Amino acid sequence: MDNATRLQYLEAMGIDVWVSRYPPIAVQAPQAVEGESHYDESSAAVDFQNIPNVVNPAADCHPIATEHLPPPTRPAHAALASEQVWTDLRSEVAACRACKLCETRTQTVFGVGSHQASWMLIGEAPGQNEDLQGEPFVGKAGQLLTEMLRAIGLKREEVFIANVLKCRPPNNRDPQAEEVAACHDFLQRQIELIKPKIIVAVGRIAAQNLLNTQQPLAKLRGSRHQLDNIPLVVVHHPAYLLRALTEKAKAWDDLQFALSVHQSLEN
Ligand code: URA
Repeated sequence: MDNATRLQYLEAMGIDVWVSRYPPIAVQAPQAVEGESHYDESSAAVDFQNIPNVVNPAADCHPIATEHLPPPTRPAHAALASEQVWTDLRSEVAACRACKLCETRTQTVFGVGSHQASWMLIGEAPGQNEDLQGEPFVGKAGQLLTEMLRAIGLKREEVFIANVLKCRPPNNRDPQAEEVAACHDFLQRQIELIKPKIIVAVGRIAAQNLLNTQQPLAKLRGSRHQLDNIPLVVVHHPAYLLRALTEKAKAWDDLQFALSVHQSLEN
């Protein structure tokens, strides 16, 4: 890492950086000796600890005029801050009592997968297995969903999977409007944090709630929709496919369409 970048990193992490007024001390690069390992560029970096008045704010030092530097990219700091936001959001969801589903749930089902995913899959609500295990799509339908993902070259852990509702509706009944409204902010914040390139609405109920429409699945499939400026496609729910195996071809079409939309997006 060059020194300018290093300084930006330190500054981004909130560490005051001081530099000497005097010209930099020449650091002699060790001569490469035959038979010894190659000279490693990183070991040529100035040892800031051992150069007086370079790191510590002593009299001969002045702070870097940061206004002349490009804005820091804040990689390490941003990553830590973002993980904290995820932890806080997860705790908020776990403690939620905004609707009556909190009385019957075993636990909330937050969502699972990569926080950097470019694919975000959103289903309807946890079922019995998900309620027991605390993870979305882990029952038979979930296993089929994982297979469907694999069919288009995606590992389950590469995508992020969530549901419109974070709690199981009793007897797997459809989500009610007030439950969807109570949970909306959690899903919204997950989408904002992940910033996926594409959202896949899994099944009719998820699609209708996300797109705020009553249109049937047959009308919603095969089109590129938008949610918060993110392309959204609708696929058959794997639970439906388990009941109607003859529909698997349609599911394959849905996935191929999703893949083509994803491929058409700029990086
Ligand atoms: N069906 C869904 O929509 N979500 C799950 O998590 C499981 C089954």
